[in-house]
Amino acid sequence: MSTPPKSRFNRRSTAEQVTEGLDLSGKNILITGVNSGLGLESMRVLALRGAHVIGAARTVDKARRACDGLEGEFTPVACELSKLESVASCADEIAAMGIPLDVIMCNAGIMAPAKLGQANGLEVQFLTNHLAHFVLVNRLLEPLKSAAAGRVVMLSSLGHVQTPRGGIDFDNLSGDRGYSPMKFYGQSKLANLLFSNELARRLQDSPASSNAVHPGVITTNLARDTGGWLSVIIKATAPLVERSVAQGAATQCYAATSPGLNGVSGAYLADCNVARPSKHASDPALAKRLWQVSAELAGDYL
Ligand SMILES: NC(=O)c1ccc[n+]([C@@H]2O[C@H](COP(=O)([O-])OP(=O)(O)OC[C@H]3O[C@@H](n4cnc5c(N)ncnc54)[C@H](OP(=O)(O)O)[C@@H]3O)[C@@H](O)[C@H]2O)c1
Repeated sequence: MSTPPKSRFNRRSTAEQVTEGLDLSGKNILITGVNSGLGLESMRVLALRGAHVIGAARTVDKARRACDGLEGEFTPVACELSKLESVASCADEIAAMGIPLDVIMCNAGIMAPAKLGQANGLEVQFLTNHLAHFVLVNRLLEPLKSAAAGRVVMLSSLGHVQTPRGGIDFDNLSGDRGYSPMKFYGQSKLANLLFSNELARRLQDSPASSNAVHPGVITTNLARDTGGWLSVIIKATAPLVERSVAQGAATQCYAATSPGLNGVSGAYLADCNVARPSKHASDPALAKRLWQVSAELAGDYL
């Protein structure tokens, strides 16, 4: 990875500020989770700068409602991330549009549901946050590579530092052998980062790149299922470190569009600058193993 010079933006910068002056007309940008929080703000701002935004939500109605009233060009699509058949058909629908994809922003996510949730035999955060995006991006590699300089932006989190022992507990991806809401959230966000790094390595011979992002701490709908003591802690500590949604969406919009990041791939960004991720996140062997296991789990959906 070539290290970019320090940018003039910081934790107080907004998505509008980091994209000011950019003309994104002619660019196609896919964003998951556009009906709420950081995804909605990213969609609004990137469309404002001229991009055609393909906005994904659980249902096409939800995606359509999110685009309603915003200025710009949108194509709403359905993508229910906890169902890989929905992810695959969303990818096929987008591939059939026959357009290059300049950005795939893997933004949608859930955080720390109080009770263990499972689907497809997997713990639901690993499935929704990581495996679904793994399938989506892999099925869209052709349109990504056909863009002049396609970018994948993976929403990770500082939470990636709090994981089960070893980072990814490959022997307990279902959660059957024990479930900790925050550690499983951290595991899924570490998986986002490792996926981005291994993808960056695999994209080396193409014009495309992949970078991961920590957006900061922002009050959105993300903590809605945490419940119990965890929600009390989040409510108590958030005001100390919190930023607005406009500021929260800045780093991912910066990663998606900044000319300062041309040629940068495999980076972890926070506050619109390169940051240092955890030891596990910097482990290429772990990234390779996660890729291999994810490919096996995805099976025919890849
Ligand atoms: N907010 C923070 O402080 C913070 C910090 C670090 C990282 N992040 C990351 O930032 C990203 C955006 O989070 P946010 O704060 O904007 O949260 P949010 O307001 O809750 O938005 C999350 C989005 O993901 C969608 N989503 C969740 N499960 C889905 C599924 N199964 N299928 C399709 N879409 C699904 C949600 O749709 P529904 O409304 O239909 O559920 C919503 O559009 C997440 O990846 C999160 O991990 C956030």
